[in-house]
Amino acid sequence: MAFKLPIPLVSLLTIIIIITTSSAATAAAAQDKNPSFIYNGFRSANLSLDGIAQFTSNGLLKLTNETKQQIGHAFYPEPIPFKNNNSNSSTANGTVFSFSTTFVFSIRSEFQSILSGHGIAFVIAPTRGLPGARPSQYLGLFNESNLGNETNHVFAVELDTIESHEFFDINDNHVGIDINSLKSEISYPAGYYGDHFVNLTLISGRPMQVWVEYDGLEKRTDVTLAPINIPKPRLPLLSLSRDLSSVLNDAMYVGFSSSTGSVLVSHYILGWSFKINGQAQELNLSQLPKLPRVGPKKRSKFLTIGLPVICVSLILAAVSGVVYVIRRKRKFAEELEDWELDYGPHRFRYKDLYIATKGFREKELLGSGGFGRVYRGTLPKSKIEIAVKKISHESRQGMKEFVAEIVSIGRLRHRNLVQLLGYCRRKGELLLVYDYMPNGSLDKYLYNQPKVTLNWRQRYGVIKGVALGLLYLHEEWEQVVIHRDVKASNVLLDGELNGRLGDFGLARLYDHGTDPQTTHVVGTLGYLAPEHSRTGKATTSADVFSFGAFLLEVACGRRPIERQEPEENLILVDCVFDFWNRGELLEARDPNLGTEYVAEELELVLKLGLLCSHSDPTARPSMRQVVQILERDVALPVISALGLSASGITYQEGFDDFAVSYSSSMGFTRPSSVAESLLSGGR
Ligand SMILES: *[C@@H]1O[C@H](CO)[C@@H](O)[C@H](O)[C@H]1NC(C)=O
Ligand SMILES: *[C@@H]1O[C@H](CO)[C@@H](O)[C@H](O)[C@H]1NC(C)=O
Ligand SMILES: *[C@@H]1O[C@H](CO)[C@@H](O)[C@H](O)[C@H]1NC(C)=O
Ligand SMILES: *[C@@H]1O[C@H](CO)[C@@H](O)[C@H](O)[C@H]1NC(C)=O
Ligand SMILES: *[C@@H]1O[C@H](CO)[C@@H](O)[C@H](O)[C@H]1NC(C)=O
Ligand SMILES: *[C@@H]1O[C@H](CO)[C@@H](O)[C@H](O)[C@H]1NC(C)=O
Ligand SMILES: *[C@@H]1O[C@H](CO)[C@@H](O)[C@H](O)[C@H]1NC(C)=O
Ligand SMILES: *[C@@H]1O[C@H](CO)[C@@H](O)[C@H](O)[C@H]1NC(C)=O
Ligand SMILES: *[C@@H]1O[C@H](CO)[C@@H](O)[C@H](O)[C@H]1NC(C)=O
Repeated sequence: MAFKLPIPLVSLLTIIIIITTSSAATAAAAQDKNPSFIYNGFRSANLSLDGIAQFTSNGLLKLTNETKQQIGHAFYPEPIPFKNNNSNSSTANGTVFSFSTTFVFSIRSEFQSILSGHGIAFVIAPTRGLPGARPSQYLGLFNESNLGNETNHVFAVELDTIESHEFFDINDNHVGIDINSLKSEISYPAGYYGDHFVNLTLISGRPMQVWVEYDGLEKRTDVTLAPINIPKPRLPLLSLSRDLSSVLNDAMYVGFSSSTGSVLVSHYILGWSFKINGQAQELNLSQLPKLPRVGPKKRSKFLTIGLPVICVSLILAAVSGVVYVIRRKRKFAEELEDWELDYGPHRFRYKDLYIATKGFREKELLGSGGFGRVYRGTLPKSKIEIAVKKISHESRQGMKEFVAEIVSIGRLRHRNLVQLLGYCRRKGELLLVYDYMPNGSLDKYLYNQPKVTLNWRQRYGVIKGVALGLLYLHEEWEQVVIHRDVKASNVLLDGELNGRLGDFGLARLYDHGTDPQTTHVVGTLGYLAPEHSRTGKATTSADVFSFGAFLLEVACGRRPIERQEPEENLILVDCVFDFWNRGELLEARDPNLGTEYVAEELELVLKLGLLCSHSDPTARPSMRQVVQILERDVALPVISALGLSASGITYQEGFDDFAVSYSSSMGFTRPSSVAESLLSGGR
């Protein structure tokens, strides 16, 4: 050394060195033969972000924040050469280099892992931003039109926390290797091989480490997962033998993609290391940035603020505390039995629901009907808007089966269904928590309110949406779900006026709750299929019947049965049928539609409504056929006048629009005289 540095400058340099080494990126240049980089935290990292991805001030890469239906991408800014670039031309596939990468992630549901959102994917892609990709189940990787297309050239390792049946997902907690599609080439439940296989929960919020390694000679990809405090397990979780040469281009971008759906979840990457032709440098776990605290911060507040106060008035606090705790305990008491422990993620605390709905204030009441009262609320921590349905239910019989069904229904996901988020039980009371639908139920737009009536385009959209939702329930989920109460007041409109079916499977509660000796039929008068009231058996074709009544309801703007003069009820299906017989079917339409309607579509809907209302269940179309007819993929079958005139709708004096049950022994031509509401304490 020819000259000395003055002391302050030396320490300044030390500080700079410490900052640059400890904060982040030590990335080798991409021109390097075997590029590599490592980020022990992302402070001052130069990644290319888009969507809602951002860096936190302490150096976490936060791919998504608590925003619905969004995408977050983060890519290494430079392209990485993945192939030997001396191949002759585009016709040769070239050999893909070996590569190795490892990263640490954490998926946190802001509502303490009660609910899952969508996952994270490590991705190798031809472009930095994956333009055109969609959020939710598409993970920000693909969209509905390019899914499965070989021209995508996308390789991904997904950490998937939602079971999407359209992609044949194995469960809602798995790791998979995806090539050009979200149908994984191979996948396995999250976990690792220690002495034996250990399960892991991806949305637990605990940081976990992933290793992805491709062996260019053996053409094999290994994926390994482990909690952060466990060294890399010897056996990989997944191993895929597949030559990637047709998938990867010469130069590709590497990074992460993540997306949110309707549940608020944050996805974090804490550190990342990558290398071509060699082992990625190990992350220094002690340097990784800290995740934000989760859970109640009450304790620390209590210590800093509350402690001195309590020291002064210890006795007073103790006495009033005991009183308070007892009162509070009574106020927030809920029922929890052993068999419910497995349903942890789907159970809500009564206290949270109480706070969310401001103590079930009348002001928050959205409506009440056959199945109970519905309140609007905002969950205290996550600020998710919810609708809470309060059902009084004295019968404890069948509760276990019913809750099992609720939990399984909570796994249904479709854009035309109102998402059931979970439940809570109290003495004599069941609370169901749903996504909040800002525009309320469809019937409000059909009856008595010409000011806010929907135009034809909107009505047709709602009809198609409800048909798709019902098709999903009948045919596209792992079990057949029968709705049992399809009607306009059970169709809710979301922010974009999409129709979403709500309350599915609820009618079952009343089946479970009743005496098995006398089978009860549950549903709403005017929507009940004749054979349903006769046999008491709920079938998909009984749902199609209700859907038919719903179609006529939407097209005509009238209820299936309307009281007119005393003793005189208007049966909508008969009325439409008369119009059809007279050859002036379109005159049956809702006068509020004005002249702004598509005659062909209106005619189709009315005829389809008649067809679905056929008294013979075998003459009704399936929901799949209904969807095909509405999409104009299939022509409407010719309607025969014969079956329709016998359209056995049953009705009676003094009916109301709420849940009605018939005793099956009565037969449908002699309806029971008392509309027995099964709702204990109902109207
Ligand atoms: C999420 O991130 C986006 C973009 O960075 C920002 O506009 C939005 O306010 C954030 N939302 C929340 C809830 O933090
Ligand atoms: C970050 O990377 C981009 C793309 O390579 C480059 O243009 C930019 O100069 C870099 N910024 C810094 C601060 O290194
Ligand atoms: C591959 O080689 C060709 C010509 O030799 C060159 O134009 C191209 O930029 C190279 N690609 C990469 C990724 O290095
Ligand atoms: C290109 O291919 C031809 C024949 O297939 C071969 O003779 C030639 O050596 C190849 N060139 C390079 C650069 O690999
Ligand atoms: C490139 O890979 C694809 C898919 O594996 C294969 O069909 C094709 O024959 C390969 N082309 C060459 C020139 O090897
Ligand atoms: C799907 O993504 C591709 C790009 O990969 C884009 O060209 C296309 O427009 C997108 N399609 C839709 C329907 O968003
Ligand atoms: C795949 O994508 C390309 C380009 O976007 C398109 O031309 C082609 O038709 C697509 N193939 C399929 C099967 O969708
Ligand atoms: C791990 O999870 C699977 C279901 O994914 C379950 O069948 C198995 O019993 C679990 N194993 C342990 C040890 O909990
Ligand atoms: C990890 O970082 C800590 C603190 O920065 C340092 O003391 C330690 O030597 C590092 N460990 C390795 C293996 O680099």
